[in-house]
Amino acid sequence: MDGNPRYLDPTATALLDDALHGLTRPEKVLSPKWLYDQRGSALFEQITTLPEYYLTRTEAGILRANSDLLAGLVPEDGALVELGSGASVKTRILLDAGGHFGAYVPVDISEGFLHDTADGLRQRYPDLAIHPKVGDFTGPLTLPHAVADLPKIGFFPGSTIGNLAPDAARDLLAHARKWPAMEGFILGADLVKSADTLVAAYDDAQAVTAAFISNILVRLNSELGADFDLDHFRYEALWNDRLARIDMRLISARRQIVHLQGHEIAFAKDEPIHVSAARKFTDQSLSALVGAAGWSVNTVLTDPDGLFAIAVLRPN
Ligand code: TRP
Repeated sequence: MDGNPRYLDPTATALLDDALHGLTRPEKVLSPKWLYDQRGSALFEQITTLPEYYLTRTEAGILRANSDLLAGLVPEDGALVELGSGASVKTRILLDAGGHFGAYVPVDISEGFLHDTADGLRQRYPDLAIHPKVGDFTGPLTLPHAVADLPKIGFFPGSTIGNLAPDAARDLLAHARKWPAMEGFILGADLVKSADTLVAAYDDAQAVTAAFISNILVRLNSELGADFDLDHFRYEALWNDRLARIDMRLISARRQIVHLQGHEIAFAKDEPIHVSAARKFTDQSLSALVGAAGWSVNTVLTDPDGLFAIAVLRPN
């Protein structure tokens, strides 16, 4: 790649905008939403099956143990709206128990991935209306007209809420609270635990997470013609106790200059690019977050080891 300007489609333009803003700040950042193109979404699905990554299997266990209760939150012919649906693997636990659902709305930023998933679900659940919505749930989102009037339950699993900055997490929940006929929300949130367990979950031995996070540089190269040399960046996950979060960063292994659409971006040796945070919750911090967004915690479901929580929220 040559690093020179070239014609950009709207997604690439937005990526460039974000990358230039983020990489010219004193503390360099890139937004984790850019991790999820087709390749990134596939790498993420691989993360969910890693031995160190206890989140997905633990959350799935809670969903399975409580599937009737959770599916029962959706009124007869109502809709389940899932934010960041990915491959909708866990969702099948609710859909299998939700023969009475009228519609399922998977929302995801990865268009190809979303449509492939929707096609698979249509085969599996021929009687269920599937209305996929391509969208970025970190901004205001309009739901498909077909479900506007249906009573709705939100579903936001995977502790993705913890990947948003606290204000953005509150805004997302407050925004969803205002969708017409919202009756409840099923929120998956990972809980605070030992730093070793947390760091291992975000820095696995097979380095799949490192490949996933580095995918953002792969995209800047392939979609914007940047010249990041992946051999000169390394991945690091750190636990920040004060903020109760894992920080995921790419570290410049040496002094270097990277070219991005005619701009020069200088890196000092060991300078980080912050790519993602994963906040971890306690019952208290979770209640405070949802309370600030117009919801209250009705029930908290957890696993026998208390690793992960699924909170059932009701409008205040
Ligand atoms: N919601 C997931 C989590 O916080 C997302 C995730 C897992 C993730 N591994 C990641 C996000 C690595 C960025 C980087 O666990």
